Amino acid sequence: ETERTFVMVKPDGVQRGLIGKIISRFEERGLKLVGAKFIQIDQDLAEDHYGEHEDKPFFDDLVEFITADPVMAMVWEGQDATRQVRSMVGETDPAESPPGSIRGDFGLDLGRNVIHASDHEDPGANEREIDLFFDEDELVEWERVD
Ligand code: CMP
Repeated sequence: ETERTFVMVKPDGVQRGLIGKIISRFEERGLKLVGAKFIQIDQDLAEDHYGEHEDKPFFDDLVEFITADPVMAMVWEGQDATRQVRSMVGETDPAESPPGSIRGDFGLDLGRNVIHASDHEDPGANEREIDLFFDEDELVEWERVD
């Protein structure tokens, strides 16, 4: 099923100049970019986005980290896109992510893991996150011809 999924290069990835490499991986894989914005996340958006981690001991650090510098927020479309992207991203912990995955190749540690992608085991997470970051008219309909 063709679907859209939310992906974000986190502040550590932006600071280390990894935006282009990460975009290239999704492009080369055949996914279609339908939305992108380079923004600095404010406190409210950070707390909404990471709401499920509110009670975790690392929550305050997580919000501080994600708001400290800009992020590249994107929506990618494709067949089974959420699961496809998750497999390209790797595990939450870069140390447990295989070489060839984005976190396995670029991630430094649990916090500085370069990229966020919607959880494919949380139904609706992709739509929820897309809605949080994008208005409908910011998503572009176009045909990719390979
Ligand atoms: P992500 O899956 O994008 O969303 C939640 C984030 O919380 C996760 O990436 C990690 O970067 C971060 N995280 C998870 N566990 C820890 C932890 N124990 N310490 C610091 N950050 C964490």
